[in-house]
Amino acid sequence: MIQLVDLTKTYPSPSGDIVALENIDLTVPDGSIFGIIGLSGAGKSTLVRCINLLERPTSGQVLIDGEDVTKANKKRLSDIRRNIGMIFQSFNLLEQRTVEANVMFPLELTRHSKGSNAKTFREEAKQHVAQLLELVGLSDKAKSYPSQLSGGQKQRVAIARALATNPKYVLCDEATSALDPTTTQSILELIKDINRKLGVTVVVITHEMRVVESICTHVAVIDNSRIAETGTVSDVFSFPQTDIAKELIIPNLIRSLGNSDGTKLRLVFNGELSDEPIISALAMQCQVAVNILYADTKNIEGRVFGHMVITVPEGQTDVVKRFLDAHNVSYREE
Ligand SMILES: Nc1ncnc2c1ncn2[C@@H]1O[C@H](COP(=O)(O)OP(=O)(O)O)[C@@H](O)[C@H]1O
Ligand SMILES: [Mg+2]
Repeated sequence: MIQLVDLTKTYPSPSGDIVALENIDLTVPDGSIFGIIGLSGAGKSTLVRCINLLERPTSGQVLIDGEDVTKANKKRLSDIRRNIGMIFQSFNLLEQRTVEANVMFPLELTRHSKGSNAKTFREEAKQHVAQLLELVGLSDKAKSYPSQLSGGQKQRVAIARALATNPKYVLCDEATSALDPTTTQSILELIKDINRKLGVTVVVITHEMRVVESICTHVAVIDNSRIAETGTVSDVFSFPQTDIAKELIIPNLIRSLGNSDGTKLRLVFNGELSDEPIISALAMQCQVAVNILYADTKNIEGRVFGHMVITVPEGQTDVVKRFLDAHNVSYREE
């Protein structure tokens, strides 16, 4: 289990400290695929880099299976890091080495610390690397160089490399953000496979909700250096509580509402509207049979806040949009 306890990270800067993470409490259960989602600059990469101490927290604890790794000495820390594989958006492969040699690289580092016999090491390592390449579907590329591979294939090599030391944990920082949607899906399937087949616990950092939606069991929404909300994906997705979670999740919720006939519009109420019955007025004045698919609006001191998703019959979208414009309701076609 990975636990972050009251973790804060600040970066010094001439114009005052930059707070990247503030009072983070987070538990990643063993066996989970744990998504951490947030907008750019929210603190996601810093968070994941604190887990394996690529960044040192300014205060707070990082517990890996109960051990506070911020207290570990150099030798212990390198053991701990072998237990935590990492995958990046930019693959970070060694261009001068073959696929096979890239995957073998972390094993070579281990070998020096273990001082094992050179010949035995090479034989065992070669076999292990072959198994890993088979797992990621790249057995036929063992002798290729990274420049000869597609983005998806490079990420597969990076995944095999991350697994080379048989880690219990794998951290993925925007692992699919540089890939097209089809390749993204195949890499996500692979990550899911690894979680299932090898029992590896995976932390997935992303700014894309569909990544969380397609593979994660748990999610934490991070906003402005803090955890805004956390829970199982089904709980957080069904009932997002905070504005940021709604902002990130609701577009997906709309997709899951299915393909009803007509145009889907998402209306956003940000308090500019008083609590007049706007949808009834719209239906009556425009003579349009508007269907409400989803509504999560609140009336606070006579002003309306929240989201609503409506469908409008084909051919009547323009008249509805004109009505919404005239009433200062912002909307987006989904
Ligand atoms: N090495 C660094 N030095 C100074 N500021 C940094 C450094 N790394 C990140 N930051 C700042 O910390 C905040 C969080 O960054 P980051 O963790 O990269 O966010 P995310 O991955 O969610 O986009 C940002 O304001 C960023 O500019
Ligand atoms: Mg980042």
